[in-house]
Amino acid sequence: MLSKQENERLTQVGAGTPAGELMRRYWHPVAATGELDARSTKEVRILGEDLVLYRDLSGGYGLIGARCAHRGTSLAQGVPQEQGLRCMYHGWKYNAFGACTEQPFEDTVRPDGRFKEHTKIAGYPVQELGGLLWSYLGPEPAPLLPRWGPLVWENCVRDIAIAELPCSWLQCQENSLDPVHVEWLHTYFGRWVQERRTGNPDAGSSIGAQRMRPMRHLKIGFDAFEHGIIKRRVLEGFSEEDEDWAVGHPMLFPNTLLVGNEMQATMQWRVPIDDTHTYHVSLYTFRAAPGSEAPIQPRPPYRYVPLFNEAGERIIDLTFNQDYLAWISQGEVANREAERLGESDIGIIQFRKMLKQQIDLVQDGGEPMNVFREPEANRCIELPLERVKFGDRTYLEYSPAEAGHSSAIGDINRVLATWAPIREPAH
Ligand code: FES
Ligand SMILES: [Fe+2]
Repeated sequence: MLSKQENERLTQVGAGTPAGELMRRYWHPVAATGELDARSTKEVRILGEDLVLYRDLSGGYGLIGARCAHRGTSLAQGVPQEQGLRCMYHGWKYNAFGACTEQPFEDTVRPDGRFKEHTKIAGYPVQELGGLLWSYLGPEPAPLLPRWGPLVWENCVRDIAIAELPCSWLQCQENSLDPVHVEWLHTYFGRWVQERRTGNPDAGSSIGAQRMRPMRHLKIGFDAFEHGIIKRRVLEGFSEEDEDWAVGHPMLFPNTLLVGNEMQATMQWRVPIDDTHTYHVSLYTFRAAPGSEAPIQPRPPYRYVPLFNEAGERIIDLTFNQDYLAWISQGEVANREAERLGESDIGIIQFRKMLKQQIDLVQDGGEPMNVFREPEANRCIELPLERVKFGDRTYLEYSPAEAGHSSAIGDINRVLATWAPIREPAH
Protein backbone atom coordinates (compact mmCIF):
# COMPACT_ATOMS: atom_id res chain seq x y z
CA MET A 1 0.00 0.00 0.00
CA LEU A 2 1.13 3.53 -0.74
CA SER A 3 -0.12 6.86 0.55
CA LYS A 4 -1.83 9.14 -1.94
CA GLN A 5 1.31 11.30 -2.03
CA GLU A 6 3.60 8.32 -2.60
CA ASN A 7 1.35 7.05 -5.37
CA GLU A 8 1.40 10.45 -7.08
CA ARG A 9 5.18 10.62 -6.75
CA LEU A 10 5.52 7.32 -8.64
CA THR A 11 2.86 7.92 -11.29
CA GLN A 12 2.96 11.60 -12.28
CA VAL A 13 5.12 12.03 -15.35
CA GLY A 14 4.88 15.68 -16.37
CA ALA A 15 8.00 17.85 -16.64
CA GLY A 16 9.34 18.70 -13.19
CA THR A 17 7.62 15.83 -11.37
CA PRO A 18 9.95 13.30 -9.68
CA ALA A 19 8.92 10.30 -11.82
CA GLY A 20 8.65 12.53 -14.88
CA GLU A 21 12.27 13.58 -14.40
CA LEU A 22 13.34 9.95 -14.01
CA MET A 23 11.51 8.92 -17.18
CA ARG A 24 13.15 11.81 -19.02
CA ARG A 25 16.52 10.07 -18.54
CA TYR A 26 15.52 7.34 -21.00
CA TRP A 27 14.89 6.93 -24.70
CA HIS A 28 11.32 5.86 -25.41
CA PRO A 29 9.68 4.35 -28.51
CA VAL A 30 7.19 6.83 -29.97
CA ALA A 31 6.19 5.12 -33.23
CA ALA A 32 6.86 2.19 -35.51
CA THR A 33 9.11 3.41 -38.31
CA GLY A 34 6.49 2.23 -40.81
CA GLU A 35 3.96 4.70 -39.42
CA LEU A 36 5.68 7.51 -41.28
CA ASP A 37 5.37 5.70 -44.61
CA ALA A 38 1.64 6.29 -44.87
CA ARG A 39 1.97 9.97 -43.96
CA SER A 40 4.93 12.07 -43.03
CA THR A 41 3.74 13.35 -39.65
CA LYS A 42 2.31 11.78 -36.53
CA GLU A 43 0.86 13.42 -33.43
CA VAL A 44 2.75 12.13 -30.40
CA ARG A 45 1.85 12.71 -26.79
CA ILE A 46 4.54 11.49 -24.41
CA LEU A 47 5.28 12.31 -20.77
CA GLY A 48 2.41 14.80 -20.91
CA GLU A 49 3.93 16.77 -23.82
CA ASP A 50 2.11 17.27 -27.12
CA LEU A 51 4.52 16.86 -30.03
CA VAL A 52 4.64 16.12 -33.74
CA LEU A 53 6.90 13.46 -35.19
CA TYR A 54 7.89 13.87 -38.84
CA ARG A 55 10.14 12.52 -41.56
CA ASP A 56 11.42 15.19 -43.89
CA LEU A 57 12.33 14.87 -47.57
CA SER A 58 15.95 14.03 -46.85
CA GLY A 59 14.86 11.15 -44.60
CA GLY A 60 15.65 12.97 -41.35
CA TYR A 61 13.39 12.64 -38.35
CA GLY A 62 12.22 15.28 -35.91
CA LEU A 63 9.99 15.39 -32.84
CA ILE A 64 8.95 18.97 -32.26
CA GLY A 65 6.28 20.93 -30.39
CA ALA A 66 2.77 20.26 -31.66
CA ARG A 67 1.88 23.91 -32.19
CA CYS A 68 3.40 26.55 -34.39
CA ALA A 69 4.94 29.38 -32.39
CA HIS A 70 3.26 31.95 -34.65
CA ARG A 71 -0.42 31.53 -33.83
CA GLY A 72 -0.72 27.99 -32.60
CA THR A 73 -1.76 26.04 -35.66
CA SER A 74 -1.11 22.31 -35.41
CA LEU A 75 2.09 21.19 -37.04
CA ALA A 76 0.57 17.75 -37.53
CA GLN A 77 -0.63 19.20 -40.85
CA GLY A 78 2.84 20.51 -41.60
CA VAL A 79 4.47 20.00 -44.97
CA PRO A 80 7.79 18.12 -44.93
CA GLN A 81 10.70 20.06 -46.42
CA GLU A 82 14.15 19.01 -47.54
CA GLN A 83 15.20 19.80 -43.96
CA GLY A 84 12.41 20.23 -41.42
CA LEU A 85 8.69 20.89 -41.40
CA ARG A 86 6.69 23.90 -42.65
CA CYS A 87 3.52 25.11 -40.94
CA MET A 88 0.53 24.98 -43.25
CA TYR A 89 -0.90 28.35 -42.16
CA HIS A 90 1.75 30.99 -43.02
CA GLY A 91 4.70 28.83 -43.94
CA TRP A 92 6.97 29.18 -40.95
CA LYS A 93 9.55 26.41 -41.07
CA TYR A 94 11.14 24.48 -38.18
CA ASN A 95 14.17 22.23 -37.97
CA ALA A 96 14.57 19.12 -35.82
CA PHE A 97 15.76 21.20 -32.88
CA GLY A 98 12.51 23.19 -32.94
CA ALA A 99 14.30 26.30 -34.19
CA CYS A 100 12.34 28.44 -36.62
CA THR A 101 14.49 28.71 -39.74
CA GLU A 102 12.11 30.52 -42.11
CA GLN A 103 9.28 33.04 -41.66
CA PRO A 104 8.48 33.87 -45.28
CA PHE A 105 6.62 37.19 -44.98
CA GLU A 106 8.69 38.37 -42.01
CA ASP A 107 11.88 37.46 -43.88
CA THR A 108 10.67 39.62 -46.76
CA VAL A 109 9.83 42.74 -44.77
CA ARG A 110 12.35 42.36 -41.93
CA PRO A 111 15.34 40.74 -43.62
CA ASP A 112 17.62 41.04 -40.58
CA GLY A 113 16.14 37.71 -39.37
CA ARG A 114 16.20 38.83 -35.72
CA PHE A 115 12.56 37.83 -35.20
CA LYS A 116 13.11 34.16 -35.91
CA GLU A 117 16.17 34.02 -33.71
CA HIS A 118 13.82 34.36 -30.79
CA THR A 119 11.29 31.85 -32.09
CA LYS A 120 11.69 28.32 -30.80
CA ILE A 121 9.48 25.37 -30.00
CA ALA A 122 10.38 22.06 -28.37
CA GLY A 123 12.66 19.77 -30.37
CA TYR A 124 13.88 16.36 -29.24
CA PRO A 125 16.31 13.91 -30.84
CA VAL A 126 14.93 10.92 -32.76
CA GLN A 127 16.71 7.68 -33.65
CA GLU A 128 15.60 4.54 -35.43
CA LEU A 129 16.33 1.06 -34.09
CA GLY A 130 14.63 -2.33 -34.42
CA GLY A 131 11.80 -0.98 -36.56
CA LEU A 132 10.92 1.67 -33.97
CA LEU A 133 11.48 5.40 -33.71
CA TRP A 134 12.82 6.50 -30.34
CA SER A 135 13.08 9.85 -28.67
CA TYR A 136 14.73 11.33 -25.61
CA LEU A 137 13.12 14.24 -23.77
CA GLY A 138 15.68 14.74 -21.03
CA PRO A 139 18.64 17.00 -20.30
CA GLU A 140 21.60 17.10 -22.66
CA PRO A 141 23.86 15.37 -23.35
CA ALA A 142 21.52 12.59 -24.39
CA PRO A 143 22.73 9.11 -23.42
CA LEU A 144 23.09 6.34 -25.99
CA LEU A 145 19.97 4.61 -27.22
CA PRO A 146 20.26 1.20 -25.52
CA ARG A 147 20.92 -1.60 -27.97
CA TRP A 148 19.20 -4.47 -26.16
CA GLY A 149 19.91 -7.80 -27.87
CA PRO A 150 16.55 -8.35 -29.62
CA LEU A 151 16.68 -4.84 -31.07
CA VAL A 152 19.94 -5.51 -32.87
CA TRP A 153 20.00 -9.25 -33.52
CA GLU A 154 20.65 -9.98 -37.16
CA ASN A 155 19.11 -12.68 -39.37
CA CYS A 156 15.66 -12.37 -37.81
CA VAL A 157 12.11 -11.25 -38.49
CA ARG A 158 10.29 -8.63 -36.42
CA ASP A 159 6.69 -7.73 -35.80
CA ILE A 160 5.37 -4.81 -33.79
CA ALA A 161 2.07 -4.58 -31.91
CA ILE A 162 1.08 -1.30 -30.28
CA ALA A 163 -1.78 -0.52 -27.90
CA GLU A 164 -2.90 2.78 -26.44
CA LEU A 165 -4.21 2.11 -22.97
CA PRO A 166 -6.27 4.50 -20.80
CA CYS A 167 -4.32 3.88 -17.60
CA SER A 168 -1.05 4.76 -15.90
CA TRP A 169 2.19 3.16 -17.12
CA LEU A 170 2.98 1.95 -13.59
CA GLN A 171 0.20 -0.60 -13.29
CA CYS A 172 1.22 -1.97 -16.71
CA GLN A 173 4.80 -2.36 -15.56
CA GLU A 174 3.87 -3.83 -12.18
CA ASN A 175 2.38 -6.70 -14.14
CA SER A 176 5.93 -7.65 -15.12
CA LEU A 177 6.68 -8.39 -11.46
CA ASP A 178 3.54 -10.47 -11.02
CA PRO A 179 4.12 -14.09 -12.12
CA VAL A 180 1.01 -15.49 -10.43
CA HIS A 181 -1.41 -13.60 -12.67
CA VAL A 182 -0.45 -15.86 -15.58
CA GLU A 183 -1.98 -18.83 -13.79
CA TRP A 184 -5.24 -17.01 -13.16
CA LEU A 185 -5.75 -14.33 -15.80
CA HIS A 186 -4.45 -16.24 -18.79
CA THR A 187 -5.16 -19.81 -17.79
CA TYR A 188 -8.16 -19.97 -15.46
CA PHE A 189 -9.94 -16.87 -16.76
CA GLY A 190 -8.78 -17.48 -20.32
CA ARG A 191 -10.13 -21.01 -20.34
CA TRP A 192 -13.41 -19.84 -18.83
CA VAL A 193 -13.73 -17.25 -21.59
CA GLN A 194 -13.17 -19.93 -24.22
CA GLU A 195 -15.66 -22.26 -22.59
CA ARG A 196 -18.28 -19.53 -22.67
CA ARG A 197 -17.38 -18.57 -26.21
CA THR A 198 -17.06 -21.99 -27.81
CA GLY A 199 -18.14 -24.58 -25.22
CA ASN A 200 -14.56 -25.85 -25.09
CA PRO A 201 -12.02 -24.44 -22.59
CA ASP A 202 -9.18 -25.83 -24.73
CA ALA A 203 -10.35 -24.00 -27.85
CA GLY A 204 -7.85 -21.77 -29.54
CA SER A 205 -8.33 -18.03 -29.43
CA SER A 206 -9.96 -16.09 -32.22
CA ILE A 207 -6.56 -15.79 -33.93
CA GLY A 208 -5.70 -19.44 -33.46
CA ALA A 209 -3.36 -19.23 -30.49
CA GLN A 210 -3.53 -22.24 -28.23
CA ARG A 211 -4.95 -22.02 -24.75
CA MET A 212 -2.42 -22.12 -21.97
CA ARG A 213 -2.26 -25.35 -20.12
CA PRO A 214 -3.46 -25.18 -16.50
CA MET A 215 -0.59 -24.45 -14.13
CA ARG A 216 0.00 -23.87 -10.47
CA HIS A 217 2.67 -21.66 -8.94
CA LEU A 218 4.53 -23.19 -6.02
CA LYS A 219 7.18 -20.52 -5.55
CA ILE A 220 8.15 -17.11 -6.89
CA GLY A 221 11.38 -15.15 -6.47
CA PHE A 222 12.94 -11.85 -7.54
CA ASP A 223 16.57 -10.83 -7.79
CA ALA A 224 17.91 -7.39 -8.52
CA PHE A 225 20.54 -7.40 -11.27
CA GLU A 226 22.43 -4.69 -13.10
CA HIS A 227 19.56 -3.87 -15.48
CA GLY A 228 16.54 -4.39 -13.23
CA ILE A 229 14.93 -7.39 -11.58
CA ILE A 230 14.89 -11.05 -12.62
CA LYS A 231 11.52 -12.65 -12.03
CA ARG A 232 11.45 -16.38 -11.25
CA ARG A 233 8.79 -19.02 -10.73
CA VAL A 234 8.51 -22.71 -9.93
CA LEU A 235 5.41 -24.33 -11.36
CA GLU A 236 3.92 -27.58 -10.14
CA GLY A 237 5.77 -30.43 -11.81
CA PHE A 238 8.96 -28.39 -12.15
CA SER A 239 11.87 -27.47 -9.90
CA GLU A 240 14.47 -24.78 -9.35
CA GLU A 241 16.59 -26.60 -11.90
CA ASP A 242 14.16 -25.60 -14.63
CA GLU A 243 14.69 -22.37 -16.49
CA ASP A 244 11.56 -20.63 -15.21
CA TRP A 245 13.53 -20.39 -11.99
CA ALA A 246 17.13 -20.90 -13.00
CA VAL A 247 17.08 -18.25 -15.75
CA GLY A 248 13.84 -16.31 -15.22
CA HIS A 249 12.59 -13.23 -17.05
CA PRO A 250 14.37 -9.89 -16.85
CA MET A 251 12.41 -6.73 -16.08
CA LEU A 252 14.52 -3.92 -17.46
CA PHE A 253 14.25 -0.79 -15.39
CA PRO A 254 12.18 1.30 -15.53
CA ASN A 255 9.44 0.27 -17.96
CA THR A 256 10.46 -2.73 -20.04
CA LEU A 257 9.98 -6.49 -19.98
CA LEU A 258 11.89 -9.12 -21.92
CA VAL A 259 10.37 -12.56 -22.33
CA GLY A 260 11.58 -15.26 -24.59
CA ASN A 261 14.45 -17.51 -25.41
CA GLU A 262 17.53 -17.54 -27.53
CA MET A 263 15.52 -18.00 -30.74
CA GLN A 264 12.65 -15.60 -30.22
CA ALA A 265 12.02 -12.81 -27.79
CA THR A 266 9.36 -10.28 -26.99
CA MET A 267 10.22 -6.91 -25.56
CA GLN A 268 7.48 -4.71 -24.15
CA TRP A 269 7.79 -1.02 -23.38
CA ARG A 270 5.21 0.82 -21.26
CA VAL A 271 5.70 4.43 -22.29
CA PRO A 272 3.80 7.07 -20.35
CA ILE A 273 1.65 9.18 -22.67
CA ASP A 274 0.65 11.13 -19.57
CA ASP A 275 -0.39 10.30 -16.00
CA THR A 276 -3.40 8.28 -17.14
CA HIS A 277 -2.48 6.84 -20.56
CA THR A 278 0.17 4.42 -21.78
CA TYR A 279 1.69 3.72 -25.17
CA HIS A 280 2.36 -0.01 -25.04
CA VAL A 281 4.81 -1.36 -27.58
CA SER A 282 5.46 -5.09 -28.10
CA LEU A 283 8.34 -6.04 -30.36
CA TYR A 284 8.44 -9.68 -31.44
CA THR A 285 11.80 -10.85 -32.76
CA PHE A 286 12.10 -14.28 -34.38
CA ARG A 287 15.56 -15.51 -35.26
CA ALA A 288 16.10 -17.76 -38.23
CA ALA A 289 16.62 -21.41 -37.40
CA PRO A 290 20.26 -22.48 -37.47
CA GLY A 291 21.46 -22.78 -41.04
CA SER A 292 18.60 -20.79 -42.53
CA GLU A 293 18.25 -17.17 -43.50
CA ALA A 294 15.50 -14.88 -42.37
CA PRO A 295 13.88 -12.81 -45.12
CA ILE A 296 14.94 -9.21 -45.45
CA GLN A 297 12.40 -6.81 -43.99
CA PRO A 298 12.54 -3.28 -45.37
CA ARG A 299 10.38 -2.31 -42.39
CA PRO A 300 8.95 -4.58 -39.72
CA PRO A 301 5.16 -4.60 -40.00
CA TYR A 302 3.21 -2.94 -37.22
CA ARG A 303 -0.37 -2.77 -36.09
CA TYR A 304 -2.42 -1.03 -33.43
CA VAL A 305 -4.12 -3.62 -31.25
CA PRO A 306 -7.87 -3.07 -30.94
CA LEU A 307 -9.35 -3.24 -27.45
CA PHE A 308 -12.91 -3.78 -28.74
CA ASN A 309 -14.37 -6.05 -31.42
CA GLU A 310 -16.72 -4.93 -34.18
CA ALA A 311 -19.71 -5.40 -31.88
CA GLY A 312 -18.18 -2.93 -29.43
CA GLU A 313 -17.38 -5.63 -26.88
CA ARG A 314 -14.04 -5.88 -25.15
CA ILE A 315 -11.72 -8.46 -26.68
CA ILE A 316 -10.84 -10.87 -23.87
CA ASP A 317 -9.78 -14.10 -25.53
CA LEU A 318 -6.27 -12.97 -26.44
CA THR A 319 -3.51 -13.06 -23.87
CA PHE A 320 -2.35 -9.48 -24.28
CA ASN A 321 -5.92 -8.15 -24.32
CA GLN A 322 -6.51 -9.93 -21.02
CA ASP A 323 -3.57 -8.06 -19.55
CA TYR A 324 -4.72 -4.75 -21.02
CA LEU A 325 -8.19 -5.19 -19.54
CA ALA A 326 -6.81 -6.13 -16.11
CA TRP A 327 -4.66 -2.98 -16.04
CA ILE A 328 -7.32 -0.64 -17.43
CA SER A 329 -9.87 -1.96 -14.95
CA GLN A 330 -7.62 -1.01 -12.04
CA GLY A 331 -8.59 2.58 -12.83
CA GLU A 332 -6.81 5.43 -14.58
CA VAL A 333 -4.30 5.36 -11.75
CA ALA A 334 -4.57 2.32 -9.47
CA ASN A 335 -5.63 3.35 -5.97
CA ARG A 336 -2.66 2.02 -4.03
CA GLU A 337 -4.03 3.36 -0.74
CA ALA A 338 -6.75 0.72 -0.88
CA GLU A 339 -4.72 -2.30 -2.02
CA ARG A 340 -3.85 -5.25 0.22
CA LEU A 341 -0.59 -6.73 -0.93
CA GLY A 342 0.19 -10.38 -0.22
CA GLU A 343 3.02 -12.83 -0.79
CA SER A 344 2.28 -12.83 -4.51
CA ASP A 345 3.19 -9.14 -4.60
CA ILE A 346 6.73 -9.20 -3.25
CA GLY A 347 8.12 -8.46 -6.71
CA ILE A 348 5.91 -5.41 -7.03
CA ILE A 349 7.05 -4.18 -3.61
CA GLN A 350 10.68 -4.68 -4.64
CA PHE A 351 10.12 -2.83 -7.92
CA ARG A 352 8.47 0.15 -6.19
CA LYS A 353 11.43 0.32 -3.81
CA MET A 354 13.82 0.37 -6.76
CA LEU A 355 11.70 3.01 -8.47
CA LYS A 356 11.73 5.23 -5.38
CA GLN A 357 15.50 4.85 -5.03
CA GLN A 358 16.11 5.77 -8.64
CA ILE A 359 13.73 8.75 -8.47
CA ASP A 360 15.61 9.98 -5.38
CA LEU A 361 18.91 9.47 -7.18
CA VAL A 362 17.81 11.70 -10.06
CA GLN A 363 16.45 14.27 -7.63
CA ASP A 364 19.90 14.33 -6.03
CA GLY A 365 21.53 14.99 -9.40
CA GLY A 366 22.66 11.42 -10.09
CA GLU A 367 22.33 9.23 -13.17
CA PRO A 368 19.88 6.30 -12.83
CA MET A 369 20.43 2.70 -13.91
CA ASN A 370 20.26 1.71 -17.58
CA VAL A 371 21.64 5.01 -18.82
CA PHE A 372 24.41 4.09 -21.24
CA ARG A 373 27.22 6.36 -22.39
CA GLU A 374 29.96 3.92 -23.43
CA PRO A 375 29.53 2.85 -27.08
CA GLU A 376 31.59 -0.28 -26.57
CA ALA A 377 29.30 -1.53 -23.81
CA ASN A 378 26.27 -0.67 -25.92
CA ARG A 379 27.00 -2.61 -29.10
CA CYS A 380 24.58 -5.38 -28.13
CA ILE A 381 23.42 -5.70 -24.54
CA GLU A 382 22.84 -9.40 -24.04
CA LEU A 383 20.42 -10.51 -21.34
CA PRO A 384 19.55 -13.79 -19.64
CA LEU A 385 17.53 -15.89 -22.08
CA GLU A 386 15.98 -19.29 -21.69
CA ARG A 387 16.63 -22.11 -24.09
CA VAL A 388 13.75 -23.14 -26.31
CA LYS A 389 11.49 -25.33 -24.23
CA PHE A 390 7.89 -25.42 -25.31
CA GLY A 391 6.44 -28.09 -27.53
CA ASP A 392 8.53 -30.86 -28.97
CA ARG A 393 10.69 -28.57 -31.00
CA THR A 394 14.06 -27.59 -29.69
CA TYR A 395 14.52 -24.75 -32.16
CA LEU A 396 12.03 -22.70 -34.03
CA GLU A 397 11.12 -24.61 -37.13
CA TYR A 398 9.56 -22.09 -39.35
CA SER A 399 10.04 -21.78 -43.03
CA PRO A 400 11.56 -18.49 -44.09
CA ALA A 401 8.97 -18.31 -46.83
CA GLU A 402 6.20 -18.43 -44.29
CA ALA A 403 7.73 -15.73 -42.16
CA GLY A 404 8.50 -13.67 -45.23
CA HIS A 405 4.92 -13.88 -46.35
CA SER A 406 3.67 -12.75 -42.98
CA SER A 407 6.01 -9.86 -42.73
CA ALA A 408 5.79 -8.73 -46.31
CA ILE A 409 2.04 -8.26 -46.15
CA GLY A 410 1.95 -7.27 -42.52
CA ASP A 411 -0.39 -10.13 -41.73
CA ILE A 412 0.19 -10.21 -38.01
CA ASN A 413 -2.61 -12.68 -37.45
CA ARG A 414 -0.79 -15.22 -39.50
CA VAL A 415 2.42 -14.58 -37.61
CA LEU A 416 0.66 -14.85 -34.28
CA ALA A 417 -1.17 -18.00 -35.30
CA THR A 418 2.13 -19.52 -36.31
CA TRP A 419 4.06 -18.52 -33.29
CA ALA A 420 1.72 -18.12 -30.35
CA PRO A 421 1.74 -21.80 -29.38
CA ILE A 422 5.49 -21.61 -29.04
CA ARG A 423 5.46 -18.26 -27.26
CA GLU A 424 3.10 -19.24 -24.46
CA PRO A 425 3.32 -18.37 -21.67
CA ALA A 426 3.98 -14.84 -22.77
CA HIS A 427 5.37 -13.75 -19.44
S1 FES B 1 0.37 29.70 -37.43
FE1 FES B 1 2.06 28.64 -38.24
S2 FES B 1 2.89 30.00 -39.67
FE2 FES B 1 1.20 31.07 -38.83
FE1 LIG C 1 -0.22 -11.29 -18.51
